[in-house]
Formats: sequence, structure tokens, C-alpha cells
Amino acid sequence: MDTTIRITDELVLKNPVMSASGTFAYGEEFSEVIDLSLLGGIVTKGLSLEPSKGNPVPRIVETPCGMINSIGLENIGIEAFLKSKLPLLGQWKTPVVVNFYGTNEDDYEILASMLDSKKDVAALEMNVSCPNIKKGGIHFGKDPDYLYSLVSKVRQATNKTLLVKLSPLASDIAEVAISVQEAGADGITCVNTIPAMAIDENTWMPVLANITGGLSGPAIKPVALYMVWEVSKHVHIPIIAAGGAASYRDVIQFMLAGASAVEIGSYALRDPFCFTTIIEGLDKYMQENALDRLEDIVGKLKT
Ligand SMILES: Cc1cc2nc3c(=O)[nH]c(=O)nc-3n(C[C@H](O)[C@H](O)[C@H](O)COP(=O)(O)O)c2cc1C
Repeated sequence: MDTTIRITDELVLKNPVMSASGTFAYGEEFSEVIDLSLLGGIVTKGLSLEPSKGNPVPRIVETPCGMINSIGLENIGIEAFLKSKLPLLGQWKTPVVVNFYGTNEDDYEILASMLDSKKDVAALEMNVSCPNIKKGGIHFGKDPDYLYSLVSKVRQATNKTLLVKLSPLASDIAEVAISVQEAGADGITCVNTIPAMAIDENTWMPVLANITGGLSGPAIKPVALYMVWEVSKHVHIPIIAAGGAASYRDVIQFMLAGASAVEIGSYALRDPFCFTTIIEGLDKYMQENALDRLEDIVGKLKT
């Protein structure tokens, strides 16, 4: 049975199961409980040029079937990442996808060119869709024309496989995806969190210090599934799904909808062993359904 997934010549996954940005940090904590070389890919926490403290606490709240976070892209900054985290991540026989974001266009270009020469980086995932930061983030990701220009500039700055992570907030996600493809992206990650909030009825105050945050986890899976399907009808570049996946069944469903691979985020915070369970579940599913190549089911939804 062949579970290999080819996103590009440089980004070939041994299976479609990846970590999602921001729920896996830089892999160190997870490496103490699971074998990271089993994963199809590791996606790092979103990096910026300078270190960022993120938003004030409280910045996480549980919801039925999910969570809202307003972390605000806290990270150690690109320099510290390259020096102290990338060499460790590079030890695993698993492609490392570096997620990054900027607060202006120049930041995106500089980050992409800094990462371009790093041999341990298999691909870049450009975040243009975070709902929790004041500058940049989601505002970059909603406008197809603006995004075309931004992705084109980043494309010039790197030869690495370039994935662009979309927001579910775009009024027409297919239009945004087409712009990203035309600008030269190699793949699309679909999707980031959905803007959300929680209120404490006793204090009459918002639960999160930032007031609003992004909803993730199984609660958003049907939305993410729809977005993947919608995007897959309009682009030919590979799609990587994100949004609520928690089981091998979810991974199969995302693949049928058109995703080549699936990132697991919030659910791994609840069950760090889920990666192994999901990978084993996929093997079993292939046996039961007499599938030789898992990649063959991508986009095979019968409508
Ligand atoms: C705590 C937390 C931090 C996140 N940080 C990032 C980030 O730094 N960059 C990014 O592109 N997405 C970030 N995300 C979004 C996830 O990568 C993912 O797109 C989203 O949570 C949906 O997947 P899930 O439902 O499996 O968590 C974050 C999500 C959570 C819950």
C-alpha cells in the first residue's frame, strides 16, 4: 500500500497527516510523546521577523467541540528559529513546512528570502489569514487583487514550495484561491480559524482579553470541508486541508473533497497521540477498501 502524497517535487509526504501551525510549536514537546518521523509533514508555529509576545491572557477558551484562541501569533522570531529550532526539526525524516507572516509586504518578502537557502526547510506556508492580530493577517487574505500582488512578490523571493493559507472569511474563497494560483503559489492551505468570541454572563465581560479570537476544532470541520471542495473545483494546484480533523475518517473525507493532505491542529492538543491513531486508521481503511494508492482518492467525491 502506498500512502505517499506528492505536493511538489520538493514536498513529498510519506502520508497525508501533518501537524497544523500553532498547535505543534516547533515540535519539541510532541517529540517527547510521539515519533515525529511517522508524520507526513510538520508545520511550525507562525514566524515573524522579530519575536512577538502575542496578545494578553486569557487567550484560549474551550467551546462545544472546539476552542477559541487569540494567541496573536506569539513566536520566537526567525533568527532564533533558524539558530535553535530548525536544526532539531531537521533531524526527523519528515518534511518541515515553515509557517510565516508579516505585518507588511516587505516582511513577507524578507522572511521568504531568509528561508529560501535553508536545506532543512521543505516548504513555506504563508499565513495571510490570522484573525487575531491588529496589523496584517486576515486583512491581507480577503482581497484577491491585493493577495495576487503579495503572493507574486513572495514568489520572486523564494524557489521553495510555497503554500498560501487562506481564511474562511473571504467572501468568495474560490476567487481568492484562483488569485493565489495565478500569482505562482504551489499549493493552498484551507483554512485558518473562523472569527469568534465568548462572553461571561456573570461579569458581562468577554472571556478573551483580546475580546475576539479564532474558532477551531471539530466544530469547524463541516465549514472547512465545504471550503476545500469549493476551492478544489477552481484550482489545479494541491490543497492541504485544515479545520477540525480528528480521525482517519475526517482525513478521508477531506481527501475525497479534494485535499491532498490534512493538517491536524486543535484535536492534537486534546490527544497528542491522535497522529499515530489516524495514520494507523488510514492503513486499515486502505486494506478494507482494497486501495493501492491513497493519492488516488483525492477529489473523487461522487456528486
Ligand atoms: C492555538 C492556535 C494557534 C494557531 N496559530 C497559528 C499560526 O501561528 N499560524 C497559522 O497559520 N495558523 C495558526 N492556527 C490555525 C491552525 O493552524 C488551523 O488552521 C486551525 O486551527 C484549524 O485547524 P484545527 O481545527 O485542526 O485546529 C492556530 C490555531 C490554534 C488553535
